[in-house]
Amino acid sequence: MYLLGCDIGSSSVKASIIDRQTGVTISSDYYPKEEAPIKAVKPGWAEQNPEDWWDYLKLAIKGAIGKATIQGEDIKAIGISYQMHGLVLVDKNKEVLRPSIIWCDSRAVPYGDRAFLSIGGEKCLSHLLNSPGNFTAAKLAWVKENEPQLFESVYKFMLPGDYIAMRMTGDIVTTISGLSEGMFWDFKANRVSEDILACFGFAEDIVPAIRPTFGEQGELLASVAAELGMRKGTPVTYRAGDQPNNALSLNVLNPGEIAATAGTSGVVYGVNDKVTYDRYSRVNTFAHVNYTEKQPRLGVLLCINGVGILNSWIKHNVAPEGISYNELNDMAANIPIGSEGLSILPFGNGAERMLKNKETECSLYGLNFNIHNQKHLARAAQEGIVFSFKYGMDIMNEMGIPIDIIRAGNANMFLSPVFREALAGVTGAVIELYDTNGAVGAAKGAGIGAGIYQSPQEAFQSLKKIDVIEPDRCKADTYCDAYRLWKERLELLINDN
Ligand code: XUL
Repeated sequence: MYLLGCDIGSSSVKASIIDRQTGVTISSDYYPKEEAPIKAVKPGWAEQNPEDWWDYLKLAIKGAIGKATIQGEDIKAIGISYQMHGLVLVDKNKEVLRPSIIWCDSRAVPYGDRAFLSIGGEKCLSHLLNSPGNFTAAKLAWVKENEPQLFESVYKFMLPGDYIAMRMTGDIVTTISGLSEGMFWDFKANRVSEDILACFGFAEDIVPAIRPTFGEQGELLASVAAELGMRKGTPVTYRAGDQPNNALSLNVLNPGEIAATAGTSGVVYGVNDKVTYDRYSRVNTFAHVNYTEKQPRLGVLLCINGVGILNSWIKHNVAPEGISYNELNDMAANIPIGSEGLSILPFGNGAERMLKNKETECSLYGLNFNIHNQKHLARAAQEGIVFSFKYGMDIMNEMGIPIDIIRAGNANMFLSPVFREALAGVTGAVIELYDTNGAVGAAKGAGIGAGIYQSPQEAFQSLKKIDVIEPDRCKADTYCDAYRLWKERLELLINDN
C-alpha cells in the first residue's frame, strides 16, 4: 500500500511516494528542474501563478509514479504541504482571478498595521495571537481596495494548498491551522474571526468550509485520476503549511520540541501548549497540525525570508558560473569564522517579520577590497543567515521557548557544513539531521489522516537520524564575537530606518 505526498514550495514542487509498511520513499520527483521564478512586478511584490504550481505538481506526480515500480492505482491517500500565507482567489467557476500574492510579498503590511490599530493591539494578540501583519487576510484587504472590480468576482479565497486540493478534488475547503496562518482564526472564540471580517469588510461566505487537518478532505476527480494514472476517488486526507508540515515530518508534535528548515526561507518552529505570543509579532503563533481547542498545540514560528534565496543569489550572481551548491559550500569553508569582518544582513526577500515587517533589503558591511573575495561573500552569506536565526531564537527564548535540540531534514542549507556548524556554534544547540523532507512528511500525514497509521508514533517509527552536530565549545567565543559585530550592524540599520 502506498501514500503520496505533495510539497508546493516556492522554488519547486515535489511529489514523493512512500511504502506504508516500511515508511521507505519509493520514488520522488520535482518540477521545475531550475528554481521556479518569483515575479516581482514592483519592489516588495512577490507573485506566482497557481496554475503553474498545478502543472509542476502533475509533472512531479507522473514522474514519481513513472520512476516507481508500482501502479498509480495502488496509492491509497494523498497529503499536501504548501507555502504558507499566500492568497489565491477564484470565481464561482473555480477559475483563478489573479496571480497568487505569496508569503514574501510585502504590499499588505500597511493594511495589517491599520487593522492592528483599529481592532486594538491587545485584542488582536489575545484572539489572533499575532498582528494581522502581512498575512493572507491583509493581502485580501489589499485586493479589495486596489482591485475592487476583481474583488467583486471573488467567490472564495484560498491558501496555496487549498487551491491544489481544489484542483485534485473539486472541493474548496481549508483547515483551522490554515485559517490561523492567514489571520482568520479567533483562538478565543474558536471560530473564524469576526473582528477581521468586520474590520476588512469581508463577507463570511468568502471563507472556505473547514475540514480537519488529518481526515477526509475530498476525493480525486475522475478526470484528474485519469490524467495522473491514479484511482478515481483516492482521498486527500491531510494538508498543512510547509512549516507545521516540516515539524510533522520530524515528529515534532509535543511541547518543547523544535524543528527547523532552511529552504528559500528559514524557519525555527517550536511546539507549545501555552498561549504565548510576541507582542511585536516578530515571531508568530499559529495552530499546529495537532491543534484542538481542548488540547492546544501551537507552533511558535520564527521566519527569515532571505535564507536559501540569498545563497542561490550568491551562486548565480557572485560565484563562478556553473558552480554546484557543494562547491559553493567548499568556497565558504575556506574562509575563517567571521569572514574577516565582512557581514551580510540577508533581508532582501520582502518585509521581515522578525524586524517588525521592515523592508530593509540585503546589505553588506565591512567590505574591504584588499581583503575580501568571492569566498568571503559565500561565507558571510551563510553566517548572516545563521546570525539572523540566532537573533530570532533569542526572541523565542525570551518568550519562554528554550532551544536545546533542533531537528531538521538533511536538505537545503543544512547540507552545508559551514551553515550547520555555525548554527550549533553560535546558539549552543545540538542539531539532529533526519532523512526526510516535506513531501515525505505529507505522505505520512496522509497515512495518519486516512487511518492507515493508527498514530503518529506508528507513522514515524521509520524516521532515521543521520547526523548530529554538537556545538564546538572551542569555537563558541569566535562565533559569538562574529555575531556581536553582525548584530551591532543590524541594530545600526534598523535604528536608522
Ligand atoms: C512561514 C513562511 C515561509 C513560507 C515558505 O511562516 O512564511 O516559510 O511558508 O514557503
